[in-house]
Amino acid sequence: MDDGPGGWLTMASPVVEVQGLVKHFTLGGGVVASMLGRSPRVVKAVDGVDLTIGRSEVFGLVGESGSGKSTLGMTLVKLYQPTEGSISFRGRDVTRIAGSALKTYRKDAQIIFQDPYGSLNPRLSVAQVVEEPLRIHGVSDDAERGTKVVEALDRVRVPAAEYLDRYPHELSGGLRQRIAIARAIVLEPEFIVADEPVSMLDVSIQAGILELLERLSRELGLAVLYVSHDIATVRYICDRVAVMYLGRFVEYGDTETVIARPGHPYTKRLMAAVPSVDPASQRTRVDAHPDPSGSDTAGAATETCTHEEPHWEEVEPEHYVACPLH
Ligand SMILES: Nc1ncnc2c1ncn2[C@@H]1O[C@H](COP(=O)(O)OP(=O)(O)OP(=O)(O)O)[C@@H](O)[C@H]1O
Ligand SMILES: [Mg+2]
Repeated sequence: MDDGPGGWLTMASPVVEVQGLVKHFTLGGGVVASMLGRSPRVVKAVDGVDLTIGRSEVFGLVGESGSGKSTLGMTLVKLYQPTEGSISFRGRDVTRIAGSALKTYRKDAQIIFQDPYGSLNPRLSVAQVVEEPLRIHGVSDDAERGTKVVEALDRVRVPAAEYLDRYPHELSGGLRQRIAIARAIVLEPEFIVADEPVSMLDVSIQAGILELLERLSRELGLAVLYVSHDIATVRYICDRVAVMYLGRFVEYGDTETVIARPGHPYTKRLMAAVPSVDPASQRTRVDAHPDPSGSDTAGAATETCTHEEPHWEEVEPEHYVACPLH
């Protein structure tokens, strides 16, 4: 047994490096609740994650609904303040930044959500949607903004002349997601969290969007965290993948190796449940507070682990599995 996939997670100059990241939500902690003698409930959405993503890398993150993927992504781009642990971006600690440092990080780190219908303001034209971040970040020169908007649309293969004056509701889901990606890259970020960017799209257009993300990562040197409940789409564009379960990573590795020889009982179960890239396939939700009777345990463990903390085994080169008995 090893203490962790430390070596595998270390790289010369990572874009993003995360250590021991924790994000807990406290529910029902208000004044009224305390007057009624109710104690707050803590949801351990992210509960100790280590992660490193390099330049031009699309790193895959899979796990069932409720395993903490979105919370991790939103914490990494600092839409949530971490409870514990550290996030470093290009060697700078950004865990507790505020003010102008946070504003700069908001340029450097972007997030794309799964719903291209809800994430684009319907009152803005395509040109305005893509231009808005430039305005927010103080690019005051009209011509400069115009050039950057056209460049960004070019990168996502949307013909600017044809679409600049159109409105999101006039466009297909795939085009909207391309516009959302153009909006995310227009500020020239170095890190993008793509949170289930294709799960609401028709299967026939998913591959095009995945290929686009992979190409942008390569062309722009972007570090991308690609979040999905579906390992089939991860396989398509990610060399490395982590499997998340109840706020923690339970398995890390080279994508093909993890798919070929999943080591953790939870990963095996996840693979069995996801036979294809069909977005309409049934999704089940895990509970951050599983039934103590054990109906939702990762494996039918009859032995127990004697270690205090979760620990890792390198089951083969570049493939790490957390102790399933923990
Ligand atoms: N803002 C919040 N306040 C309280 N609890 C939250 C909040 N956001 C998420 N949670 C809880 O944290 C856990 C992880 O949720 P999260 O949305 O990160 O999972 P997910 O893996 O992204 O799921 P999905 O695949 O459905 O998107 C769940 O138990 C969820 O209910
Ligand atoms: Mg999510």
